[in-house]
Amino acid sequence: MTTGRDPWWSPWHEGEGAVVLHVDLRPDEGRETRASSLLDDEERRRRDRFVVEGAARRFSLCRAALRINLAERLGCSNDELSFGYLEHGKPFAKVNGTRSPVSFNVSHSGSNGLIGFAEHDGLGVDLEERAPGRNFDGIGSSVYGPAEQRALTAAEGHRKTDLFYRLWSLKEALIKALGTGFSLNPSRFEVPPAMLGGARSSVFRFPHAPSDRWWLLDLGEPRFAAAMAYRLPRAAGSTLHVSAN
Ligand SMILES: CC(C)(COP(=O)(O)OP(=O)(O)OC[C@H]1O[C@@H](n2cnc3c(N)ncnc32)[C@H](O)[C@@H]1OP(=O)(O)O)[C@@H](O)C(=O)NCCC(=O)NCCS
Repeated sequence: MTTGRDPWWSPWHEGEGAVVLHVDLRPDEGRETRASSLLDDEERRRRDRFVVEGAARRFSLCRAALRINLAERLGCSNDELSFGYLEHGKPFAKVNGTRSPVSFNVSHSGSNGLIGFAEHDGLGVDLEERAPGRNFDGIGSSVYGPAEQRALTAAEGHRKTDLFYRLWSLKEALIKALGTGFSLNPSRFEVPPAMLGGARSSVFRFPHAPSDRWWLLDLGEPRFAAAMAYRLPRAAGSTLHVSAN
């Protein structure tokens, strides 16, 4: 879908039963008007409560893009679509009030968003625009484990900024895939050593639930850090074929 310049959303990654779209969240009057017309009353009330600059636009453009894509996938109209929320706030889709099996997850930061869709539940995506100059060492101890903190302490300049956001997005994708969000202390687990060393993807297990395996993928690029995590089916073998851009 285009409104004269870049598409509102475009394919970003596809593989292992998941599809991720990039969403353009820059100001755009035409899109914002269309988005507003697609939200339901509850979503409009929520949008109107945001006070942070740009947050209402990000929510509205991302939620409307989610609605359009979900309605298409589910073969329903926008009016038939609504959302329910799990214990820690993870949304799920409902069609005419009945929970739909489609699995999705959303993230937005600055001018960019991601929407992921998957065949079964256990999908998390995260996108973080990098903000240089924060006190990365101070924030890190509440989010990162010992090996992650050592890597951050050793890094300098833009490498420290990049690593901080890369690790953040990988870890947040995992806690969003799990559905707990930050109610699970992210310093209690670490990204796989291969990914700390720079690998783009790896299998991951939470220490508190080692029988579940998660596919963890770095989807970052120069504009932002981003990641996807997706629970692997129990019977899946060890041969994984994934393409990332
Ligand atoms: C989920 C969470 C990590 C999102 O962090 P964030 O950096 O603000 O936001 P992101 O842009 O990456 O993601 C936001 C999206 O994640 C989704 N989301 C919300 N809660 C989620 C959860 N628990 N798990 C997965 N996804 C979630 C929503 O779709 C949301 O988008 P929307 O507001 O447009 O609908 C954070 O809000 C969190 O930790 N929530 C849990 C809070 C909690 O446990 N509350 C219960 C006690 S009060």
